[in-house]
Amino acid sequence: VRTRVAIVGAGPAGLLLSHLLAGSGIESIVIDQRSREEIETTIRAGILEQGTVEVLASSGASDRVLTAAHRHEGIELRFAGDGHRIDFAALVDRAVYLYPQHEALKDLITARLAAGQDLRFGVTAQRVEGAETDRPAVIATDADGQALTIEAEFVVGADGSRSVARAAVSGSRNGYFREYPFAWFGILCEAPPSAEELIYSNSPDGFALISQRSDTVQRMYFQCDPEVDPDSFSQEQLWDELQKRVPGTTLKEGPIFQRDVLRFRSFVAHELLKGRVALIGDAAHTVPPTGAKGMNLAVADVLVLEKALRALLLEDDHRLLEAFPETALHRIWKAQHFSWWMTSMLHVAPEASDFDRLRQLGELRSVVESEAGRRFLAEAYTGWPLEGLQ
Ligand code: DHB
Repeated sequence: VRTRVAIVGAGPAGLLLSHLLAGSGIESIVIDQRSREEIETTIRAGILEQGTVEVLASSGASDRVLTAAHRHEGIELRFAGDGHRIDFAALVDRAVYLYPQHEALKDLITARLAAGQDLRFGVTAQRVEGAETDRPAVIATDADGQALTIEAEFVVGADGSRSVARAAVSGSRNGYFREYPFAWFGILCEAPPSAEELIYSNSPDGFALISQRSDTVQRMYFQCDPEVDPDSFSQEQLWDELQKRVPGTTLKEGPIFQRDVLRFRSFVAHELLKGRVALIGDAAHTVPPTGAKGMNLAVADVLVLEKALRALLLEDDHRLLEAFPETALHRIWKAQHFSWWMTSMLHVAPEASDFDRLRQLGELRSVVESEAGRRFLAEAYTGWPLEGLQ
């Protein structure tokens, strides 16, 4: 088959890109190896920057985000037994929105299918060919095991951290890379919220994040060993682990009905563009989850690339595409820094010395006791401006 833009991956990046391209009259095909059901039910991120919400709403990708998302005007940083509120509204006049990623995906899939998008689930990309020709192609296998070749004017790899498309751009393992000696143990439980806003807690026993999903379902995480078996904890042990990491707060407990371990890595591909193939979202970069930048960064990539593809495909103007890597990387490295900083400031490294622990408390105090410190955090957390990228 032929199309103008072949997009590998029906996550937030791929689906939003196809949606915005359609708005500019540019047709695309989106493939994903997962089923629609898997995409719509896998629990992922939860926090959207204000700018992300504005893009989803104003582009018609999601109406529900305006009514169903919960606006949060601050977070709490908790350490040494005390909570310190970072008041986003007062500091930067912005907010974030709690809206699970899979809800945004449901909205995007509904909108794309209603618009007649060629969106194919269960189709596995094998490789991308012809990056440096005018006819790049995705070589894939469909749900029935039949070979499928999608020829396009441009191919986009939006296929996540284990990207297949990356090999055509950057080589499969080529990137700037950092691993962390810990992971997050995530749970979903049936309980009322333990707090009105998110709590990011540093404690001698390690980090915990108290987040929410709804009035009756809560999401919480605690720092753990990356090799831990999620089934090795009883429910009681999980509550003990969580509770001891948020001293000063009493968690509202309830049945835990889902558990998972999230690995931490920081990654940026060496190349984001080769000829007529580009990488966006987790295919281009991965951030550790602390600070909730992953999906928001993917949305920013989409805005930059969509503008460049409009110029290329509607006006045969290559300049914005040539600038795409530099423009995208500017924000990517800021987000890498923020995610690394929040991670290193809040977690307890297994090899941390007493000096490291006390220095870390000094760092946390430097942030919360200074308006400049709180504002730096608030600006990054609520999202740097997207104006100019679109
Ligand atoms: C959630 C995840 C994050 O990484 C974060 O920083 C905040 C919230 C969440 O899943 O709710």
